[in-house]
Amino acid sequence: MSSKNIYPILNETLSKEDKELQLNQKALVIWMIGLSGSGKSTLAKGLEKKLYQNGFFTQLLDGDNLRSGLNSNLEFSKDDRKENIRRAAEVANIFYNSGIITICSFITPTEEIKKIVKQILGNAYIEVYVNTSLDECKKRDVKGLYKKAEDGLINDFTGVSSPFEVPQNPDIEVNTESMSIEESIDKIYNTILPDIKNQ
Ligand code: ADX
Repeated sequence: MSSKNIYPILNETLSKEDKELQLNQKALVIWMIGLSGSGKSTLAKGLEKKLYQNGFFTQLLDGDNLRSGLNSNLEFSKDDRKENIRRAAEVANIFYNSGIITICSFITPTEEIKKIVKQILGNAYIEVYVNTSLDECKKRDVKGLYKKAEDGLINDFTGVSSPFEVPQNPDIEVNTESMSIEESIDKIYNTILPDIKNQ
């Protein structure tokens, strides 16, 4: 990869802080990690709604959605997952620098892949682990993908034929087997509130 002959512009007259002031909030990237079917997207949507109802301006980036557009040329090999996550983090960084509270929901299966996110986002990044056991995800199997993976109809399926490393030190953890959706959303919202309030 080369960035030769590329000269990124700097906008010295309009900063992230100016935009945060206009939006009356502080930007943050809330990165939700968990197995397929763990409930990431449900919690991400619920959290976005709660933020909206409380006057915050947000953007939601979800794995299945990005993979339908921007990342539609990518599959689930290790390299493609890395590229998927790299692009997602770069897009999140653009929203972040516009003062927007950005919620990202991607499996983000390994420490190596997570490192890419952290390198791009730095202090903007807050990690949420949506803890739902593999057994429970298989039992729920909302999209029918675990059954397909176990029948050999999907390759490289996370938790079945591709690794998932449990996050060791998340900023926030929600356990969907012992907490309701509302409790999980409230826990995330209440934890991030001091960081997104503009004062
Ligand atoms: S990631 O590993 O690159 O972070 P991402 O969150 O974008 O994954 O996409 C995961 C979603 O893609 C799953 O929720 C599921 O709906 C779909 N999917 C299709 N094939 C696979 C697969 N082989 N492994 C995991 N998820 C898959």
